[in-house]
Amino acid sequence: MQEIPSYGDWIQKEQAARELFQKKYPLEKDPFRQKFHLMPPVGYINDSNGLCFFRGIYHVYHQYCPFSPWGEGGKLWGHYETENFVTWRRRPPAGAPDTPWDRDGMYSGSALPQEDGIRFYYTGNVKESGDFDYIHEGREHNLIGAFSKDGKLLERKVLLMRNSDYPGDVTLHVRDPKVWREKGKYYMVLGARSDKDKGLVLLYSSGDGLKWKVEGRFFSAKHLGYMWECPDMFRLGKKRILLFCPQGLRPEEERFQNGDTCGYAVISRDFRLGGDIGAFEELDRGFDFYAAQTFSGTGERRILLGWMGLPNPYENPTVAYGWQHCLSLPRELSFRKGKLWQEPLQELEALRKPGGCGTLFKGEKLLLPADCFEVLLYPEEEKFHAAFRQDAELVYDGERLTLRLGESGFGRKERSCRLPEKINCLRIFSDVSSLEIFVNGEVFSTRLFETHSGSKPMLRMISGSCRWELYPLCPFEWEE
Ligand code: FRU
Repeated sequence: MQEIPSYGDWIQKEQAARELFQKKYPLEKDPFRQKFHLMPPVGYINDSNGLCFFRGIYHVYHQYCPFSPWGEGGKLWGHYETENFVTWRRRPPAGAPDTPWDRDGMYSGSALPQEDGIRFYYTGNVKESGDFDYIHEGREHNLIGAFSKDGKLLERKVLLMRNSDYPGDVTLHVRDPKVWREKGKYYMVLGARSDKDKGLVLLYSSGDGLKWKVEGRFFSAKHLGYMWECPDMFRLGKKRILLFCPQGLRPEEERFQNGDTCGYAVISRDFRLGGDIGAFEELDRGFDFYAAQTFSGTGERRILLGWMGLPNPYENPTVAYGWQHCLSLPRELSFRKGKLWQEPLQELEALRKPGGCGTLFKGEKLLLPADCFEVLLYPEEEKFHAAFRQDAELVYDGERLTLRLGESGFGRKERSCRLPEKINCLRIFSDVSSLEIFVNGEVFSTRLFETHSGSKPMLRMISGSCRWELYPLCPFEWEE
């Protein structure tokens, strides 16, 4: 029998990993550390998990592996707290693989705030050692429930379902529960891979949040990947959205360039019936976005936070500094003009330092702050071509917006999106090694890794002209 470390053992290991990495990779030498994005202190970060608002605090949990920049050695739930998305506290990991049902990783899951605390649901990963394909044999994906009175520690883990409880035609890949309450019942979506290598989402219901019954399933009649990860279901006004991440897509001219993607379908009939999802839309148009999850905080608004990274073989130059990836900025969702519409969360305006504005005509340049800034561009002509930072470019031909990266893309060159409606404003958030460009409800998210050749960072109008507003941004503030 493999010995399973206790939570306390994991916390010690995490601390030791941080100390070791910090000695090996002095922070001040790292040219890529982000200033207003959540990133791992050391090692690997992926999916945002358990997003919730409880007693005035927003909790952001995430997949966290402090032991290696490739995510090897155990997945814990990292934990951040904030009241305003600008001042943050990094908490000790809220959970670690310390039971026989999650001993090879506390995988992704969700949170459900209640009167007396927060309920959690996540996938416990178990991998046997041996000669297995790990699809049909050699692994377990268990549904685990847990509870926390204040969000700090996931306690009282209980095994709620194991692979033999899931439908007979799915493989061992069944994970990432997202649970919500509606009309006095609990519902849950779970991502899965069928035995015919097709992605699907299983829908469950429950009266008590403990005993679950399959209600139906969502699938796509058209080819849409072999596995669907990280599902989420929520309402925006009258629309019901199913969000998920299909893996193994065939790149098309304008879609699915990343192979694995995050996107959504609008479910227009009674959701409990499941069925063919119909049209699927991508959520992000850049190089780095995946595993997004939503939650509602104060009021009705729906906030989305994703991972600025991708699962399949992908390596950032930050590996040389002992870490990889970060989370996206929080976005507020609405349904407008027939699509999911994304805007930066209003709270982010508090990061702005006093700014300036003006107009930039063809051939003119504007000096930018080194890396952390927000720039709003209001194009004055139907077409434009602008260059900024070391070698990023934005080209709009009246129909399609293209983001190009030079060397700073580390091999990633170009992504584009059809934007047939007039562009009023492009809002660009630039951090040390990332860009998020909000335009007409769409977002282009990408990491970029500049070599800092010494030249001054500029915004240059190659063609067209635009009005601009520029704000240097403050880094996140950190509290103990
Ligand atoms: C998505 C994912 C999830 C899984 C987690 C493991 O990136 O593969 O399906 O729960 O990451 O870290």
